[in-house]
Amino acid sequence: MRACAETLESEMSAEELRLLQRLLAQNSKQGKHLEIGTAAGGTLVSMMKTFADDQRPPFVVVDRMTYFPNQQQLVYENLRANQIDPSGVDFRQASSSQAYRQARSSGETFEFILVDASHKIISVMADLRWAGLLKPGGIICFHDYSPKFPGVRMCVDRFLGKHQNYQRLDCAGTLLAIRKTAAGTTDEVTISDRIYSIAWHFPLEIERRRAKRQIGRVA
Ligand SMILES: C[S@@+](CC[C@H](N)C(=O)[O-])C[C@H]1O[C@@H](n2cnc3c(N)ncnc32)[C@H](O)[C@@H]1O
Repeated sequence: MRACAETLESEMSAEELRLLQRLLAQNSKQGKHLEIGTAAGGTLVSMMKTFADDQRPPFVVVDRMTYFPNQQQLVYENLRANQIDPSGVDFRQASSSQAYRQARSSGETFEFILVDASHKIISVMADLRWAGLLKPGGIICFHDYSPKFPGVRMCVDRFLGKHQNYQRLDCAGTLLAIRKTAAGTTDEVTISDRIYSIAWHFPLEIERRRAKRQIGRVA
């Protein structure tokens, strides 16, 4: 069982949560705010609490809700325990890819996006497509941007190298914030990016399993 399923706490560190709250307060706009991957909703609560009840922008959450048993119910409980009505949050129980396709086909845009779902390179590359739905001036954050999660690091670094209209804004712990400075002229994720992520998937998985076995032997 994941610890957050018991504690209902965020999986982020205090300094990462502080950065999120600072960015939200500074960027305070009324467009949609999206969290992809919510676990027990601890970070969601923290982000929503940045705003007074009557000034809070709409929040959207995308999650498969299979992280631990009764995940959706526990997220609701967590919100209620923090005086937030869950019916005011737009929950989309779906894979990130399914939700992305729907959001894109309905022409949705977002002011703020937090990406914290699967950290496998193929998934992170697919999640980067959400940046195309970010409004110019908006912020997209990636959690676990660290050597421990090469899938996140490699995708984000490649993305920043290719798109001059996205710039690093701030970083705390393993949370990286990026600003979209202008609308793009090319797709955020191309076929060649997807092929790159598929090519790296198996080497990274082999390395991840080898490292896990090694930790198991030491413990
Ligand atoms: C690392 S946890 C999120 C932690 C949370 N943001 C926090 O700070 O407490 C990952 C979450 O992403 C969800 N998830 C993983 N892969 C997903 C996918 N492909 N589509 C949608 N949700 C996914 C899991 O169900 C889980 O709730």
